[in-house]
Amino acid sequence: MNEPILRKLFLIFLFFITFKLHAQPDRSLPYWNASLPVEQRVNDLLSRMTLTEKIGQMNMYGPTGFKETGGGLDDGHLGTFYNLRDIEWIDQVQARAANTRLGIPLFIAIDAVHGHGKYNGATIFPTPLTLASSWEPGLVYESSKVTAREMRATGYNWNFFPNVDVVRDPRWGRTGETFGEDPFLVSEMAAAMVEGMQGQGRLGEEGAVACIKHFAAGGQPRGGLNFAPMDISERTLREVFFPPFKAAIDAGAMSLMAAHNELSGVPCHANEWLLTKILREEWGFEGFVSTDWHDIERLIEIHKLTDNMKEAIRLAIGAGVDIHMDGDNFTGPLEELVKEGLISEKRIDRTVRSVLTAKFEMGLFENARTDFDKIDKVVLTEETEALALESARKSLVLLKNENSILPLNKKTKKIFLSGPNAHSNVVVGDWTRRQPDENIVTLYEGLQQVINQKNIDYHHCGDIVSITNESIAEAVKRAKSADVAILAVGGRSVQADEEWNFDKMHPGRTGGENVARSSLDLVGKQLELVQAVKATGVPTVVVLFNGRPLSINWIAENIEGIIEAWEPGMQGGKAVAEVLFGDVNPSGKLPITFPRSAGHIPDYYNHKPSAYYRKYKYEESTPLYPFGFGLSYTTFEYANIKLSREKAALGSTVTASVEVTNTGDRLGEEVVQLYIRDKLSSVTRPVKELKGFQKVALKPGETKTVRFQVNPEMLSFYNLQMDWGVEPGEFEVMIGRSSQDHLNIRLTLEE
Ligand code: GLC
Repeated sequence: MNEPILRKLFLIFLFFITFKLHAQPDRSLPYWNASLPVEQRVNDLLSRMTLTEKIGQMNMYGPTGFKETGGGLDDGHLGTFYNLRDIEWIDQVQARAANTRLGIPLFIAIDAVHGHGKYNGATIFPTPLTLASSWEPGLVYESSKVTAREMRATGYNWNFFPNVDVVRDPRWGRTGETFGEDPFLVSEMAAAMVEGMQGQGRLGEEGAVACIKHFAAGGQPRGGLNFAPMDISERTLREVFFPPFKAAIDAGAMSLMAAHNELSGVPCHANEWLLTKILREEWGFEGFVSTDWHDIERLIEIHKLTDNMKEAIRLAIGAGVDIHMDGDNFTGPLEELVKEGLISEKRIDRTVRSVLTAKFEMGLFENARTDFDKIDKVVLTEETEALALESARKSLVLLKNENSILPLNKKTKKIFLSGPNAHSNVVVGDWTRRQPDENIVTLYEGLQQVINQKNIDYHHCGDIVSITNESIAEAVKRAKSADVAILAVGGRSVQADEEWNFDKMHPGRTGGENVARSSLDLVGKQLELVQAVKATGVPTVVVLFNGRPLSINWIAENIEGIIEAWEPGMQGGKAVAEVLFGDVNPSGKLPITFPRSAGHIPDYYNHKPSAYYRKYKYEESTPLYPFGFGLSYTTFEYANIKLSREKAALGSTVTASVEVTNTGDRLGEEVVQLYIRDKLSSVTRPVKELKGFQKVALKPGETKTVRFQVNPEMLSFYNLQMDWGVEPGEFEVMIGRSSQDHLNIRLTLEE
């Protein structure tokens, strides 16, 4: 008899045994009554729980730890399972949880970053940095809604996402799973993702608990290395790194994950100022805070705050942590701390109350089991696949189009296609496990769908780190006889190789969690491949598939057509092919600056006035491509920037407007961006800050007046006394097509 059958029989046997050995919950008790208000159900259940059962709701197990100890599941002493990928096992553990004295269902948590990526067969959307390039929060909302629905259909109900870190150091491996460098754009995307994930208001049957992370400021770690310290002022925290968390909490986020790093000497997981004063007392957060993986243990192992777990737990729970990820050596010491009076049971009750609220709101007490018949109807439908394609189309960024080399002509006789990312699962990005190959459209497959396969000469030149001189020579030979060459290069964040063998640290992985770089240059011989093919004289287009900005200086200088495709998801290859051949007019804009080198970092656009008072010697100091930049196959003209009043009383709201005209010959969409600058202020202010954006569609020749309300909130900042407010004086209002290309008008606010 083979192993899987034996395993299934063992699971059934285990289930049968445990089912018989434990008390059944009394379903006549009030907390089982779904017609009662959630708060009443929570209070009733809480009043019946022992301290051990309460603390059990604060613990989590992954598959490994559980196998050894059972995690207290069958005694009703476990609140969460995470990272399970066998959905039958998930259903079993829910059945076992239901079969305990109180029958409290489990959170089943997973990282569903851009679709339910750890489930084989889900809808895989563009990664967050890719989606951010669309500047369309609506797409983030819709894709998150689908993700939550597919999670719930397969038994999952807590998503360790969105990552709402503001990234100011793209050497950081996780850049691709964020929405970029700007606090306002990240805030808009974060709120959209939370609302999509949880629904607007009560969680409901198709909602999943969102978990905003990582609190806080892990996006500019020392050296770009994950976990590394952040030494940062409260003012910068409040003006740059906090806003997306506040926006997500205002959108209803029910959970939050603390960050690995320290903040100016105090690790986030033991930071009461952060996790209690700011998060709960100032912002009124009522959800629950999860640790990141083993980050209580890391207060010992990495941060060296203490040498024992009990003290580490006291520090973490005392600071405001609610749930431990994961495993043993947590519940016991925590119960001792409560019995010793070092942690109050009232403090435990606050955590349990927030956990039970989410479980009741999701309807888990009514039904936490998986309806296996329903999965095929819900997961990956024509509609969700179409949404994945549309999201990719809207997220692609045209970086260069010299001599209108793009779009290419479909009648082109011979197209040479090569590059490590030309026919690769790289399109799905980080946090995606094996997906059926037939679900993923690589660039090569996308081209075959958009143009006749006979015209494509595809040369597999090796993966990112295995391009050889011989494969380059072969590329040169074949490119010479082509009419145009398309080269797909960049990076790779997928946590597996091309054959879906899971290997977080395989040599070809250049980005993703814990894959930081000390350089932003292309890895391996990718640049040599591009240079050699270009040298043949064949018109050449480069498509970048990557999870972070790259210092593609030579390519930017010498290649006529460049598309930034990032990691565009399961339909990404098709979307890129449609842009290459003009079926789609690209409308994406960069959500993050492209530095000319790692030496230019930090290189974010909303810098202080003194940042570039002095310049680099030998190199340009400006970005390779600025925040908000992106071209179109048509052209747009901005004119007549106006204010409803150029002089107004402090505290007023004025309307800023501009006329945008499509001066080209095809329909296009333009992301009109609003920036402001406080000209004179009591503390230094950034040279500009994004405060609004609108994506408008314009027919050839059409003009639209785009209006923004400029209100006091947009002009406010933390003054010398760290009070938030607007100061009188002059402001520069800027409206344009990027952070470097805009019209300006002066606004004066008087006392
Ligand atoms: C990792 C990540 C975190 C993720 C967690 C569970 O350490 O930092 O973002 O949610 O583990 O997978």
